[in-house]
Amino acid sequence: MRTHYCAQVNETHIGEEVTVAGWVSSRRDHGGLIFIDLRDKDEVVQLVCDPADSAEAHKLAEDVRDQFVLIATGKVRARGEGLENPRLKTGKIEIVVEKLVIENRSKPMPFDLGDERVNEEIKLKHRYLELRTQKSYDIFKLRSKATIAARNALDELGFLEVETPIITKSTPEGARDYLVPSRVHHGEFYALPQSPQLFKQLLMVGGFDRYFQIAKCFRDEDLRADRQPEFTQIDVEMSFCDQEDVIAIAEKLLHDVFTACGFDIPATFKRMPHFEAMEKYGSDKPDMRYDLAMVDVIDIFERCDNEIFSNIAKSPKKNRIKALRVPKGDEIFSKRQMKGFEDYVRKFGAQGLGYFQMKEDGLKGPLTKFFTDEDIQLIIDRCELEVGDAVFFGAGEKKLVWDYMGRFRIFLAETMEIIPKDKFEFLWVVDFPMFEVEDGQVKALHHPFTQPKSLDYEDIEEIESIAYDIVLNGTELGGGSIRIHKEDIQSEIFKLLGIGEEEAQDKFGFLLDALKYGAPPHGGFAIGLDRLIMLMTGASSIRDVIAFPKTQKAQCLLTQAPSEVDPEQLKELHLRVRQQPAT
Ligand code: AMO
Repeated sequence: MRTHYCAQVNETHIGEEVTVAGWVSSRRDHGGLIFIDLRDKDEVVQLVCDPADSAEAHKLAEDVRDQFVLIATGKVRARGEGLENPRLKTGKIEIVVEKLVIENRSKPMPFDLGDERVNEEIKLKHRYLELRTQKSYDIFKLRSKATIAARNALDELGFLEVETPIITKSTPEGARDYLVPSRVHHGEFYALPQSPQLFKQLLMVGGFDRYFQIAKCFRDEDLRADRQPEFTQIDVEMSFCDQEDVIAIAEKLLHDVFTACGFDIPATFKRMPHFEAMEKYGSDKPDMRYDLAMVDVIDIFERCDNEIFSNIAKSPKKNRIKALRVPKGDEIFSKRQMKGFEDYVRKFGAQGLGYFQMKEDGLKGPLTKFFTDEDIQLIIDRCELEVGDAVFFGAGEKKLVWDYMGRFRIFLAETMEIIPKDKFEFLWVVDFPMFEVEDGQVKALHHPFTQPKSLDYEDIEEIESIAYDIVLNGTELGGGSIRIHKEDIQSEIFKLLGIGEEEAQDKFGFLLDALKYGAPPHGGFAIGLDRLIMLMTGASSIRDVIAFPKTQKAQCLLTQAPSEVDPEQLKELHLRVRQQPAT
């Protein structure tokens, strides 16, 4: 239909006849002449309808409105002097229309395309219109480029792309499953995969050596700005490898993908043990674009005259007292603001937030009276305080302090606007604990198929695993581990997780069986593709980088899913919907 995409038409075509096709992004009637901005996938070109050139085209143009679909044929000419538009690739020319076809009409738009202030619900309901914007097109162009680059990189490294089932058996990744009822097997259900974890391990037992997949995953969990119920992973697994081999593959993959998308990133990334990340940054995904690291001061506070602090400090294994130095904080923040920060941390369970100010004549603040001069000096030295700085203190149970001081660190960085926007800071967080205990229940921190470093332990929470996460700018971009490839160790881990033999057989019998038939040592990782694109494009929500996303309430406003189904369908599936109890 067309001879050129809009972006392809330029001064070299002056005098030539071209045919372009697209949507009307604006129309101006200058009494006699009608100007139309016609936009296709990625550029706008100006059409001029002059009754002197084609009375018929001009007549049709009178009827044209925004977002009508047109096919226009005409001669390219240079724009008049002073009428050029340097913002467009086509800004030096225009097309004088000889033939115009209105291919389709459009109702008035429900919102102005590209208007950032429009309510997101309206945009999601008409997602196909939002996709028509340049911003969306650019995001999906980059997403396509990144996906193809990932495929090429893994292909070159000898990985085989294999698809794994979508209606399958539950794989635990820490979320609820989406279930699919079986029509044939009364009362039985498939689960949608939370990840292809077990299948990729079975492919290793199957001798494929290196597998990858651009895999759809489904998790019924609380949604956030970087979480969707349905998302995509670049999923990788390999045999006869150790952590170093896997890390090298992940770094090469990411390097190739970022390079293909026009970004410069290092070939290898820094590493930090999980424990250090928690102690310094209060997070297993610290943002390394800025510092604001925490310092331990529990030993100094043990000697102070304030009973609340000294009591907390008496149990250094269970508790923490952490200092967070804010360079020039005393100059930046008013006293009122500093007090206000206490309200912020209280939301996350803190009892309070102490602070000192480093003045010309020494350390000041409501707490200084509880310390000896020597200990005040020790605080200054340990926190490396300089005149004009502020330092904040969090005290309490270890995990609580890590959590609220970690959040406070981010809050401060955002408030102070010190986070560089166009920087990529990668970090490997390594040596994750194998388990965490919550309300007396033992849980796998990564997943139960992760290889523990050893099973000799006094405290179960001290067992380390061979698991690693890739963090980018404070977001968990990916994660992986070396897997258990021996059946006896896998059974032992299930036991420690409180999964009895019968339950283990029922849920994971196929894996335990496979491990008995010569399973090779293996490991891998998965990178969240949506998060990757989100970070590359600077999008504020994961929804912007998914063509047809769901809302925070897991609804698709476009198709109205989930929705009720025909009672006949329910009957076939042997299901009955109970009435919602009145509240
Ligand atoms: P994990 O559960 O850490 O590991 O997931 C890997 C990566 O997938 C992305 N991700 C998500 N993205 C969007 N919405 C979600 N709800 C969501 N959940 C996870 C994140 C995350 O880092 N099978 C293991 C990998 C392995 O061990 O090889 C797994 O799925 O970017």
